[in-house]
Amino acid sequence: MKENLGDTNALYPLVTTLVGSVVDGKPDFATVAHVGIAHLKGITLGMGKIHLTNEGIKANREFSVSIPSVAMVEVTDYVGMASGKTIDKSGLFKVFYGELKGAPLVDDCPVTMACRLIEHVELPTHDLFVGEIVETHADVDVLTNGVVDLAKVRPLLFDMASKKYWSLGEPLAKCWSVGKGYSAP
Ligand SMILES: Cc1cc2nc3c(=O)[nH]c(=O)nc-3n(C[C@H](O)[C@H](O)[C@H](O)COP(=O)(O)O)c2cc1C
Repeated sequence: MKENLGDTNALYPLVTTLVGSVVDGKPDFATVAHVGIAHLKGITLGMGKIHLTNEGIKANREFSVSIPSVAMVEVTDYVGMASGKTIDKSGLFKVFYGELKGAPLVDDCPVTMACRLIEHVELPTHDLFVGEIVETHADVDVLTNGVVDLAKVRPLLFDMASKKYWSLGEPLAKCWSVGKGYSAP
C-alpha cells in the first residue's frame, strides 16, 4: 500500500554542486543541488532569484559548476547557508579561469566545469538557467583511463527528505548491458 505524499518532490538524491559566477569583479558561489542534465553538454540549474550568484550569471551569461568531494562537506554547507550579499565568499577557494572569465573554476574541487548561459527562464520564485559546457577540468587522480571515476571523486549527494548529505555506495551493474539478460514476464 502507498501513501499519497501530495506534491512532494521525491527526485532525490541529487549531486551537490558549487555554482560560481563573477559579481562586481569577484567570484561568488552558491551551493546548488537542484542541477540537471538537459543533454550531454547541457546543464540546468534551479536557483532562487534572491541569490547573489544569479546576478553574476545574468550579467556575464557565464557560470561554473564544480563538484565538491565528501572531504569538502563543511565548506560546501557553509557556502549554502551564507549569501555573498552579507559575507565575502571570494576567498574560500583557490580559483582559476579558463576561456570564460565569468566562470570561476574551483581548484579545490576534483571536477569543475565552465558553462555559457544559453537559456534563462524566469519562474515566479526561481531562475532556471540552462548552460552549455565549454570546458571541464578534472584532477588527474580522479580519472581512470581518462574518464571521471565517481569512486575517486566521491561526490556529495543531497537528499531533501532527510536533509542530509549522503555518499555513494558500490557500483551495481553495467548500463546498456545488464538488461540484456532480462526475461519479460
Ligand atoms: C545542501 C544545499 C543545497 C542547496 N541547493 C540549492 C538549490 O538547488 N537552489 C537554490 O536556489 N539554492 C540552494 N541552496 C541555497 C544557496 O546555496 C544559498 O542560499 C546561498 O547562500 C546563496 O548564496 P549567494 O547569495 O551568495 O548566491 C542550497 C543550500 C544547501 C546547504
